[in-house]
Amino acid sequence: MLGLTALRHAVRPSTSIRALSTESLKVTNVRGGSSANVKEERIKYFKIYRWDPDHRQKPYLSTYPVDLNNCGPMVLDALIKIKSEQDPTLTFRRSCREGICGSCAMNINGRNTLACLCYIEPKGEDGKKASGGDVMKIYPLPHMYVVKDLVPDMGNFYEQYRSIEPWLQTKEGKAEGQAEFLQTREDRAKLDGMVSLLCLQITSLAMSACLDLPLDVCLTQTTRTLTIFSLVLHRIVCACCSTACPSYWWNADKYLGPAVLMQAYRWIEDSRDDYADKRLAELDDAFKLYRCHTIMNCTKVCPKHLNPGKAIGNIKKKLAEK
Ligand code: SF4
Ligand code: FES
Repeated sequence: MLGLTALRHAVRPSTSIRALSTESLKVTNVRGGSSANVKEERIKYFKIYRWDPDHRQKPYLSTYPVDLNNCGPMVLDALIKIKSEQDPTLTFRRSCREGICGSCAMNINGRNTLACLCYIEPKGEDGKKASGGDVMKIYPLPHMYVVKDLVPDMGNFYEQYRSIEPWLQTKEGKAEGQAEFLQTREDRAKLDGMVSLLCLQITSLAMSACLDLPLDVCLTQTTRTLTIFSLVLHRIVCACCSTACPSYWWNADKYLGPAVLMQAYRWIEDSRDDYADKRLAELDDAFKLYRCHTIMNCTKVCPKHLNPGKAIGNIKKKLAEK
C-alpha cells in the first residue's frame, strides 16, 4: 500500500517506476514471534531533469520516490539506486564516488556540486541531520548543451583546457640522469589550492591524441586507473565553477572561465615552468580573461573549497604589473 501512495506522486506516467515494492516497507521478522517491527518510511522525492535526443520530446522532470531508510547518504547513492531499481534509462556520469574525478558534477537544489559529495540530508549547525524538505531537484550543469538527461557536453570545456597547454614546459629539458624537476617547498606551497586534476586530464589528453578516441571515453578510462594518483594529489576539474559563472554562461565560446583560468595560473606560478610570460601573453585578451567581472560564484560553489576567483585576480595583477 505504501508503494502505491508513493507512486501517485510520479509526474510522468511514461516513466517506469518500479521501486517501492516490499523494500520500502522494512519488515524485521522476530525469530519465533508473530509480531513485525515496521520501520517508518522516509520518502524523498527526486525530481530529475530528463531529455533523450532519440525521443522527439521536450525536456521534462521525472519524479522518483526513494525511501531514505534503504539508501546511502549521498545524492549519487540515490541516483544509482533509482537507476538500478526504478528506471534504467536515467543517465548520468560518475566514476570514483569519492570527489576525485569530477564526473558527477550537476546542479542539485539550485547549486552546482558533486553528487557523490552532496548529502541528501546535510547536517545543520547543531550537528543534526536537516531533512531539507521532501523534494530534491536535480538538473545538469547549467548553460551547457545536454547530451542526455544529466550528462552535459563537455567538449568546449575540454578544448579550452587544452588551449592553455596544461603541462610543464621548460627551455632546457632534463639534464642527463635527471629524474625529476625539483622545486623548493616554498615554491611548491604556492600551488596549494590550485592543483586540480592535472594527472587525470593530461593522461586523458595524451590518450585521446594517441588512440584517436573521444576525450570523454579517455577520461572515464583514465579516471579508473588514476584514482589512486588523484587521491594523493587532490586534483579534480569538475566545471562546477565555470558553469556557475554568468560571464561563462553568455560567452562560453570566448571566455575561458574560472576552472581553466585557475589551471593556467597554476602553470604561470610554477617555478619549474619557463614560459610564464608566454602563458600570460596568451591570456591577455578582452574575452579570454577580462570577461571575469569578479562575481565570485566560482569560489562560492567549488565543492573542493578551491579559490578560482583569487587565481583569476592574480593573473590580472601580474598582467597589470608588466
Ligand atoms: S576550481 Fe573547484 S569547482 Fe572549479 S573545476 Fe576545480 S574543483 Fe571544480
Ligand atoms: S563520481 Fe563524483 S567526483 Fe567522481
